[in-house]
Amino acid sequence: AVVVLDFGSQYSQLIARRVREASVYCELLPHDATWSDVAPLRPRGVILSGGPASVYEPGAPQLPAWVLESDLPVLGICYGMQLLAHALGGAVEPAAEREYGPATIEVFEPHPIFAGLPERLDVWMSHGDRIARLPEGFAPLARSGNSPYAAMARGNLIGLQFHPEVAHTPLGRVILRNFLYDVCGCAGNWTAESFIESSIAAIRERVGNDRVLLALSGGVDSSVAAALIHRAIGDQLTPVFVDTGLLREGEPETIKEVFGRHFKMPLVAIDAGERFLARLRGVLDPEEKRRIIGDEFVRVFEAAAVEHGPFRFLAQGTLYPDVIESATAVSKAAAKIKTHHNVGGLPADLRFELLEPLRFLFKDEVRTIGRLLGLPEEIVQRQPFPGPGLAVRIIGEVTPEAVTTVRRADAIVRQEVEAAGLSAELWQFFAVLLPVRTTGVMGDYRTYAQVCAIRAVTSEDAMTADWARVPHELLARISNRIVNEVPGINRVVYDVTSKPPATIEWE
Ligand code: XMP
Repeated sequence: AVVVLDFGSQYSQLIARRVREASVYCELLPHDATWSDVAPLRPRGVILSGGPASVYEPGAPQLPAWVLESDLPVLGICYGMQLLAHALGGAVEPAAEREYGPATIEVFEPHPIFAGLPERLDVWMSHGDRIARLPEGFAPLARSGNSPYAAMARGNLIGLQFHPEVAHTPLGRVILRNFLYDVCGCAGNWTAESFIESSIAAIRERVGNDRVLLALSGGVDSSVAAALIHRAIGDQLTPVFVDTGLLREGEPETIKEVFGRHFKMPLVAIDAGERFLARLRGVLDPEEKRRIIGDEFVRVFEAAAVEHGPFRFLAQGTLYPDVIESATAVSKAAAKIKTHHNVGGLPADLRFELLEPLRFLFKDEVRTIGRLLGLPEEIVQRQPFPGPGLAVRIIGEVTPEAVTTVRRADAIVRQEVEAAGLSAELWQFFAVLLPVRTTGVMGDYRTYAQVCAIRAVTSEDAMTADWARVPHELLARISNRIVNEVPGINRVVYDVTSKPPATIEWE
């Protein structure tokens, strides 16, 4: 494995993804991780991410001592390079000109990190500081117009001023592979198959003869978790599907039907719509909604455990981005964005041990694993749907009427996007009901009704997303149908914000 230390760059997760794509297992850890956090991974190398700070400022995140003491190969990227320079006695200073955007570097000194690459490379720069003097024993490897030290190395300590992990550095993957394979000596044998094998062994060992209750939402993640755990422990697993009353049109029926067709295990289905709606009455704050829903899920599971248990474990399809975005595990410095109910929203008095076999995986990896486990495309390609469901797509109070309204609008969005043949290209597409009323005219009458926003995004992993440039004709059909067919809505708007700065869901 390789450890990626997160110094706060917006690209830290991307580094982790690139390493995984090179079939090397890695974990993203906070910059102040200790050797005892890291040692169990038996790392063969360390990557230091970029970050927004300046190494010479008081309070800037520093290089943990173990990084150099361990004698492991180190790749410092941007801030990570400056940290190496600073820690080893070089000088870092503000650059006369900030270098941001595309640049071309000239590699003039051979080094394994640039093996097989041309002398001139297009790269992506994004830095305000630069190295003014190399630390003792380091050789410059490359320069750009603005950076005399675009790359440096001393043995297996390597610094790059540019970002090899971003798509704007077209040959960046080769550079990362050179580091992983040639410098660190990684075998590159971390694959979906090896993940399945080792996690089945780990699940068997942890669970023993005990029983596991699995929270099945019908989405990709929990379905893949179900298939994986079932392969490990067979009928010690009981999947439980909870209809929260906050699901999309036809969803409870579809989930039960698809599950029945593809899984050879019984499903416990619980209709808990009234319980959830009762607890959400009068609640406006999004974080409060998430907390209540997370809590209520657990209460429903506890009741199910009394009936079908006992269970020692509660299994969930939690993914790495959920973990990262809930900021419970990775960067202590990172801001909490929202409490994904299946990570941060669990009550403190949880009576189960958590079993989350996918918690270090990205979505595309989970899809690959699902296919290898024999799940059909209709499950593996499902559009992601948040655990708190339509509750976070109703801005303001979640009333039964609002749920009906947004559900109808959402069904129209889905039908039209599918009819236009665009569903595979989009990461998500849905309707959001706003607590805003505006004036309209229908027939010869004035209307005063709610606004519905349409959200459609493209994304690779939900960490970043762009609003989808869907055809205006499609938007016209959606708008026309919603206003005509859904009572209570008389205006439709399209959300043209990317993530960041917005998030995909509105709450
Ligand atoms: P945001 O809105 O944070 O969403 O950009 C990123 C992705 O996560 C989904 N999402 C959730 N999934 N529980 C979940 O299981 C949640 O609480 C939750 N909130 C957001 C969202 O639909 C998108 O795919």
